Amino acid sequence: MRFTEKIITIERFIFEHQPDYARGDFTNLLYDIAMAAKMIANKTTRAGLADILGTSGATNVQGETQQRLDIYADQTIFRLVDHTGRVCVMASEEHEDVLEIPPEFNKGRYVLVYDPLDGSSNIDVNVSIGTVFGIYRCVDWANRGRVEDCLQPGRKLLAAGYVLYGASTMLVYSTGQGVHGFTLDPHIGEFLLSHPDMRFPEPKYYSANHAYFGRWSPEIQEYTRWLQGRGDYEDAPKALSERYIGSLVADFHRNLLRGGVFMYPAEVGKPEGKIRVLYEAGPLAFLAHQAGGYASDGQQNILDIVPQTLHDRTPIFIGNRHLVQKAEEFVAQGDTAFQ
Ligand code: AHG
Ligand code: MN
Ligand code: MN
Repeated sequence: MRFTEKIITIERFIFEHQPDYARGDFTNLLYDIAMAAKMIANKTTRAGLADILGTSGATNVQGETQQRLDIYADQTIFRLVDHTGRVCVMASEEHEDVLEIPPEFNKGRYVLVYDPLDGSSNIDVNVSIGTVFGIYRCVDWANRGRVEDCLQPGRKLLAAGYVLYGASTMLVYSTGQGVHGFTLDPHIGEFLLSHPDMRFPEPKYYSANHAYFGRWSPEIQEYTRWLQGRGDYEDAPKALSERYIGSLVADFHRNLLRGGVFMYPAEVGKPEGKIRVLYEAGPLAFLAHQAGGYASDGQQNILDIVPQTLHDRTPIFIGNRHLVQKAEEFVAQGDTAFQ
């Protein structure tokens, strides 16, 4: 560390790098999300203890029912944003329908979509989890927010990001001017700029749940062989290793820092895949694009998918551009080529 290196808080960074259209509400909405991240991070470090307390009658000293972390995260984001006059509507993984702004509050210009707690299966085993968010402009000013405001393709995102609750808490976001990462200093409660201008380096890893290998189509199976450097492919990537956490945010984050591809492809009998378009695939595809990478459903850019419902799913290949494009090549050849 040199004394000339600046210490930059997320507040200062957002303020200094806000797009021209984004004075005021948009910038403050990003602060709100950073605040939600701090509150959720504070709980993730205590989740194990909270679970123990929750077993004895499941009420705490204030008489409140102990909540699962994903419900807490969902409610925290909503409660920080609903009354601010900055959004017209929200959508969350945890709710079937859109989250309307209560009538007593003003509506704003933006739409917030989010996966409050990503990687739920990892909560109880002390493995990294995350939050994903995307911000759109409200399309219909005449009405209070509606589902139509949420059903926009990733290409229309104004901003997207994620929070990773790992050994340290990080917030990574983009407003379309590169991807920037901040690490929470828990002692002072501030996110400080730690990873400016993140770009996918040469790939080291691929990430997939290989337990599903038998359910993948022959072309996806062949793609994994290509990733592993097997078969007679001159363009095979060099010595990729496999890493899979099972929290999309954590898997994406590692691949962004180390280079690689994450895939959750279609399965035989489950062509829609698992990852949700609106609040998982879309925001991460926006970040991947901003970091020099690419995200595809195997046939098209994820950013071009217009979700038909809030919880539409999509197959996904996301990471270094050439690795994702290769997945598209395999898919385009069709399964008969590899029988
Ligand atoms: P969520 O916890 O928000 O429902 O998302 C879970 C997703 C994603 O985070 C992860 O990549 C994937 O589920 C893991 O699924 P498998 O256990 O089938 O591999
Ligand atoms: Mn998720
Ligand atoms: Mn979730």
